[in-house]
Amino acid sequence: VRIEYAPAPAEISLDAGMPRAFTPSNSGFEESDTRIGDPEAALRGAAHAVDAAYATPQENHCAMELHATLAWWDGGDLHLRDATQYPYGVKEMLAKKFGLSKARVHVEAPFIGGGFGGKAAAWPHVWLAAAAAKTVGRPVQIVLSRAQTFTMTGGRSPTRSRVALGADAAGQLVALVHEGASMCTGDVFAEYVTAPSRHLYACPNIALSQKVVRLDRIQNSFMRAPGDAPGSFALESAMDELAWAAGLDPVELRLRNEPDRNPTKGTDFPSRHLRECYALGAERFGWGKRLPQPRSMRDGRALVGWGMAACVYPVQQFTGSVRLTLGADGTATVASGHAEMGTGTATAQAQATAERLGLPLAKVRVVHGDSDMPPMRTPGGSATTATIASAVWSARDALVRELLVLAKGTDSPLDGARPDDVETGSEGLHLKNQPGRHETYRALLARAGRDAVEVTGKAALPYKATKHSMHAYGAHFCEVRVDEGTGTAHVARWVGAFDGGRIINPRTARSQLVGAITMGIGMALLEETVLDGNGWVANANLAEYHVPVQADVPEIEVHFLDRPEPLTPLGVKGIGELGIVGAAAAVANAVFHATGKRVRDLPIRLDKLL
Ligand code: MOS
Repeated sequence: VRIEYAPAPAEISLDAGMPRAFTPSNSGFEESDTRIGDPEAALRGAAHAVDAAYATPQENHCAMELHATLAWWDGGDLHLRDATQYPYGVKEMLAKKFGLSKARVHVEAPFIGGGFGGKAAAWPHVWLAAAAAKTVGRPVQIVLSRAQTFTMTGGRSPTRSRVALGADAAGQLVALVHEGASMCTGDVFAEYVTAPSRHLYACPNIALSQKVVRLDRIQNSFMRAPGDAPGSFALESAMDELAWAAGLDPVELRLRNEPDRNPTKGTDFPSRHLRECYALGAERFGWGKRLPQPRSMRDGRALVGWGMAACVYPVQQFTGSVRLTLGADGTATVASGHAEMGTGTATAQAQATAERLGLPLAKVRVVHGDSDMPPMRTPGGSATTATIASAVWSARDALVRELLVLAKGTDSPLDGARPDDVETGSEGLHLKNQPGRHETYRALLARAGRDAVEVTGKAALPYKATKHSMHAYGAHFCEVRVDEGTGTAHVARWVGAFDGGRIINPRTARSQLVGAITMGIGMALLEETVLDGNGWVANANLAEYHVPVQADVPEIEVHFLDRPEPLTPLGVKGIGELGIVGAAAAVANAVFHATGKRVRDLPIRLDKLL
């Protein structure tokens, strides 16, 4: 084979490439273009209007744990220990690459040190490690350096948004236009910035469009709240600009535009408590004491600004299954192939299983992170807890059926009971209408002479989410202090109030929100991947790619409404990504309030404020 290359100029600039922009086939499970009514005419006739361009830069992943893969071959079987969010996905990808059946590829990833979307897909080093191990006939380990994390794995695409909003004299939206653009490579993955504009505000005239520009850069990838995070920076900044133009408090403007039904789909809201988030957050923050005029809350050298923004993130559920094993000793083990990436999913799952089976927590074991376990297709999407819970629900029903078969025709108090007649509790089963007719799991298994009963459960397909409008919501309130002499902005206080469905574990849930808000502070003030003229990353290190450190992050106050979502098992909504949505806008809005300067391109560096 003889290959000839023809040199061509590298296309690396999103702005320069805009004339080549095209519409992707989908934008994160949603359509790329939506048009309702006549937004242009409504804009022209609006009492108050804003129309502005917003930009976010490329951001790169900086999980503490580096990407690492250990590969070895055993006979014809390929084994990997991989830092991945998706063991089952890596198994499938490698099976395809090496022409093996899935049964011959084994991927272990019980715990990983942070993923945030950067470890949701397998980057080239994963299959290179496998290929190298095959070639040398020995185990091969590849650990990417921090610099290689920037150059061999993808980050978040840079984005451009135009947001135009029009409101009538009463502050009700009459027009909402959001035109978004992001980059892509051979793999057309859009950073779908219009996502929050689909769900947050009531408006009769809406135009949303997403475009992508193909560039010669490293493949862009998932990063916490793809689309929603940069898109909410644009929408929620524009809402703040509209509030100022209309002479309304930003919270009041949002309350006046709370929809009764989903504004783009017309579907109902089984559980939307955003009004309460605004009220609770405002109250805990002391928002009522805010002086509306910019530059009106000075404290010595510091210009003090208070900003707020809304957040929204879809309730998602993927497919997956679990194996539930009830032992003769009355303990339960739940196995599934998902990775624990530091979110506390495994803990929440043990709690949920214990509750569902009526067992104490100490008698439930959760094992995970092995692609040979029942497949779990949950690399992210804030969907792991809901997906596993759904599978545990179905496994619990299978277990009950199995145990009642064992009890049939015996002296068990459950003899002859039908599955619908029994409930779990007190480490066993009882009749719903006769709680006294109870038998423990141990007794049921002992009589049948069984060491264990094993069942599998499958997560229900998430049809409900397409028939209803199901989202988690929240409201951010923050105080930013800008040094008038140096232009440095510092976040001094943060209060967030969130409708994240039922909260299974307050400690791990709070940690997700604190982490996401911290990432949002980085997005607002610090993070920016800089490319040189040839497309190389010029700041591929933690000294020059700035992420928030302790001194950049104040005490973050997180409040949960803790209302169950009626249409999901456990009542959960998923909260891993919610907190970064709107966070950068809250900071930018506070910076405007502090300084009177509206920064529409992130990050808000000091040179933009001087
Ligand atoms: Mo996430 S960006 O869905 O891992």
